[in-house]
Amino acid sequence: MKILITGACGFVGMRVAKYLANAFAGSGRSLELLGIDNFSRPGSELNRNEFSKIGGRLFHGDLRMASDLDAIPRVDWMIDAAANPSVLAGVDGRTSSRQIIQHNLESTINMLEYCKTHSAGFALISTSRVYSIQALSQIPIVEHKNGYAVNVFESLPQGLSAKGIAEDFSTSAPISLYGSSKLAAEALAVEYGAAFDFPVWVNRCGILAGAGQFGRPDQGILSYWINSYCQQKPLRYIGFNGLGYQTRDCLHPDDLSALMIQQMSSNDDSHDRVFNLGGGVDSTFSLAQLSDWCADRFGHRKIDSEPEQRRFDIPWLVMDSSKARQRWGWSPKISRQQIFEEIASHASANSEWLEVSAA
Ligand SMILES: NC(=O)c1ccc[n+]([C@@H]2O[C@H](COP(=O)([O-])OP(=O)(O)OC[C@H]3O[C@@H](n4cnc5c(N)ncnc54)[C@H](O)[C@@H]3O)[C@@H](O)[C@H]2O)c1
Repeated sequence: MKILITGACGFVGMRVAKYLANAFAGSGRSLELLGIDNFSRPGSELNRNEFSKIGGRLFHGDLRMASDLDAIPRVDWMIDAAANPSVLAGVDGRTSSRQIIQHNLESTINMLEYCKTHSAGFALISTSRVYSIQALSQIPIVEHKNGYAVNVFESLPQGLSAKGIAEDFSTSAPISLYGSSKLAAEALAVEYGAAFDFPVWVNRCGILAGAGQFGRPDQGILSYWINSYCQQKPLRYIGFNGLGYQTRDCLHPDDLSALMIQQMSSNDDSHDRVFNLGGGVDSTFSLAQLSDWCADRFGHRKIDSEPEQRRFDIPWLVMDSSKARQRWGWSPKISRQQIFEEIASHASANSEWLEVSAA
C-alpha cells in the first residue's frame, strides 16, 4: 500500500508513520510511505531524519500551494495530520486568522483535489474541538477526586452521557477558528468522497499524547505539563478557581493508527464516515491529578494559580468512542498510566525538550 502522510514531521504524523512502518513490516504486506511537511511547527525539523530512518520519502512542501502536491506521486491513501492545532490560533495575536484558515481549510481543498485526481482515499484526523463551546461549558459537572465528572443526576443534552461526548453532540458556533476550520474540512472531505467516489474516514480525536509531542500548553498539554514539572519550570492552574480540576481524556496515537489501518483496509461504502475517538472515562485526568502523578514520579513541587478563565476554556471534555467500538470493534490498548510514563521517561532523557520543540 502507498500512503502519504501530510504533516509527517509533526507529533501525530511522525507517530502514525512509525506505527505504520512497524505494523506493515510485521504483516508481510508492503508499504511505501511518503510524507509532506512545511516545517512551520517549531520542532518538526527534529523529525526530518526520523522519517527517512523508517524508510519514508519526505517532500518539503506547503499544502496551501496546490502545485506542491502536484510533485507527489500517486498514493492509495492520504492521512491528513497537518494543521495548526491550537484552539487559540488566529485569536491570540501569534498567528493571523487568515493563516489558520489557509493552513487548516484551504490546504484541505488541495488535498481533496489530489485525492480526486488520483482516486486516493482520505483519512482526516479531526478534533473534539468541533463541538460547541457553549454546550460544552454548560455540561452539568460535579467535583470528583480533584477533578470533574458529569453529573448524571441532571438532565443531559443530546450526545452526552457519563461515557462522554458522542458524535451527535452540538457543533453550534462558536467552536474556535481551529474547531470551525476542522469542522468545515470534515464536511468537505465527506462531500468530495461522495461526489468523486473515493473513500473518506474522519476520526475526531480528543487529546492525543505520547513521547515526542511538542511542548506548548495549547498544543499538547500533557507533554507540556510533565516536561515542565520534570524540569522545574513554572506551572499554573488557569481558570476554574485556579484548582486545576479541568478534566480531559487521553489517547495514544498508536491506538488511532491501529484503527486507521483497519479503515484503510475496509471496503465499507456506508455513508457513516465520522467517528469520535478518545481514551474515554478510563483515561481521564485533571491537571491536579496529573500534578499528583508527577509528584510521585519526580517529587513534590508547588503549582501556582490564576483563577481567571481564558477564552475557549472548558471544564470537562471526554470522548465517547462507543460508535467506533461498535463499528470497528476498536478500543484503546494503551492506558493513561503508560502514556504518562512514556512522556515522563522522554522528559527525563531530554532536558531541553520544551525549549527545542517550542522555540
Ligand atoms: N495533538 C492532539 O492532541 C490532537 C488532538 C486531536 C486532533 N489532532 C489533529 O492531529 C493533527 C496533527 O496534530 P499534531 O499535534 O501532530 O500537530 P503538530 O503541530 O505537532 O504537527 C502538525 C504538522 O503539520 C505541519 N503543517 C502545518 N501546516 C502545514 C502546511 N500548510 N503544509 C505542510 N505542513 C504543514 C507542521 O509543520 C507540523 O509538522 C492536526 O490535524 C490536529 O488537528 C491533534
